[in-house]
This record gives sequence, structure tokens and C-alpha cells, in this order.
Amino acid sequence: MNAVTEIRAAGSRDETFQQFEVTPATPVLGAYISDLHLADISEAAAQELRRALWRYGVLFLRNQQLTPAQLSKAGRLFGPQLEEHTFGKTLVDEGYPEVLVIEQMQSDRAKTTTDIWHHDVTARQHPNLVSVLQASEVPFGADTMWTSAAAAFEWLPQALQVLYLSLDVEHDTTYMALRHDFAPADKLAELVALGETAVHPAVIRHPFNDRLCLFVGNGYTKRVHGYSAEQGEHLIKLAIEQAKIPEIQVRLQWQPGDVAIWDNLGTLHYGVTGDLRNQRRLLHRVAAWSPDIRPSLDREAAIAAVTAA
Ligand SMILES: [Fe+2]
Repeated sequence: MNAVTEIRAAGSRDETFQQFEVTPATPVLGAYISDLHLADISEAAAQELRRALWRYGVLFLRNQQLTPAQLSKAGRLFGPQLEEHTFGKTLVDEGYPEVLVIEQMQSDRAKTTTDIWHHDVTARQHPNLVSVLQASEVPFGADTMWTSAAAAFEWLPQALQVLYLSLDVEHDTTYMALRHDFAPADKLAELVALGETAVHPAVIRHPFNDRLCLFVGNGYTKRVHGYSAEQGEHLIKLAIEQAKIPEIQVRLQWQPGDVAIWDNLGTLHYGVTGDLRNQRRLLHRVAAWSPDIRPSLDREAAIAAVTAA
């Protein structure tokens, strides 16, 4: 349903959009948006931008150069609340606690969670719906990749689709921080005290495009309910392997001022940071969420639909 099924010729525009130009980046995922500046966007353009996002999963806009205030305004196009990150560095001192600073040197490599396939902040009851990320300084090679969570599910054999449709997974921020050696000791104590955990279905029905999406990443996913730790680890690993299929991915080579907008329920992402050679990587992110939307699944109906197919 609503799948990007037509294979367009490379560089060919999607003519169903009138407010700006939409050029698909791959047959499965991603599109470049041109003739639009996010600081000056009409309601009609905002509606089309949301429609493009639910269709393409991730949108790339070159040369935006947004101020923190403009970045926050762009985030509010996609949800009523902006995330204030649990442990990350923000622009709180400048009055923007919602603007997360993503800054990294190669020497920090063991202290990052960007170079794993993940959805953001899934240990919350209401994870982010949409992220808006702008690059300020990005060394050559420090790209970002996304994969389609809907295609990841659709490309599973039917027996595994049914299996994953039956699973609930516990997500835990402290587990993520320990697993990836992310938080310093003082922050770790804060995270333990915060106790941020949530249980979500391993497959969710996307709230805006109705596609079934594999909702398992290599970040916060701790335990599969009803399975031993070792069994659960195999199930989680097998799901993460789906994210690695090249045909369902797209990759952005950043230029300063570029913005990427992604659907955090319908995609996973991976920050490619392996070869920075101690060059600075600096990006800023805001993320929209809604207290009315949490990951969910019409489990029996979805299993019936998959087995009837
Ligand atoms: Fe992330």
C-alpha cells in the first residue's frame, strides 16, 4: 500500500507535486527536493512536504543554511512537540534545548551511536516521528545512509514476516548506552535513574502511510518478550541484517547547509564515520514527536493479510 513501486528513470521528476520539485533518489527510498527553502514555506508546500516524506521516507534539500530558530520551525511542520534529548549536547545555552548538536572526532569513535543501523530514541513510549538534520561541517566520506523499514519487512520471507509480526521487543536507553559504550559514567548514572524503557511491536503499522515496517534496530533493542536472551539476540540480529540490503538503502553525501528530513518510524539510518582522520563532523538536529502517536500494530489483521498474500 502506498509503496514506491514504479521504477522511474534516474533524474526523472515526480509530477504529482506542484509546490516544489521532487526527484526520487532510488526506486525504493529517498528523494531530492528543489525549489523550496524551509525558512519560507507556505501551508500548501508544508502539506506536500509531509506527503512526500510519507512516500519517500527521507528527503534531501541542498543549500538551506538554516538558523537554529529556522531549524526548529522546520521541525514543527511534522509534529506538535520537539524532542529534548535525554543525554546529548544541545544548544540550550543559546535558548534552543530542542536543537541537538552532533559533533564528532575520530578519537570519539567508541563514544557514538551514529554508526549503527537504528531508529532514534525508541526507548520512549512516543519515539520521534520525524528528524530534520542540517550539516555544518562534514568531512569527505562522512555520509549518512538510510534504509527502508517497510522494504526491510516486505523483503522477508513470509514465514519470517509472520514470526516478526508476533514479537514484542523491549527498548532500553541504559542498555543502548552500555552496549555501545556511549555515555560517560556520570551520564550513565543519570540514565539508570531515568529508567527510560518501552515495549513496541517488532513490526509496526506506519501511522501515515499504512505500510508494515520492521521496527528493530541495533540501538535500544534489548529483549524479545517470551524468548531467552540468546534467542532474542538472534532474532534482533536477523532483523538488523535486513537493514543492510543495499537495494533498499539510500546514501547522502553532505555539503554544508544541506538538510535531510527523515521518517523515523519508516526508516533506519547509519552515520558513516569510519574514516574521519580526526576531522570535525558537526551537524544539528531537531525531531518532532506527538503524544498521540506511538508505534502500534493491528497484529491479527496484519498476520491474516500476510498469510493470505
Ligand atoms: Fe540517529
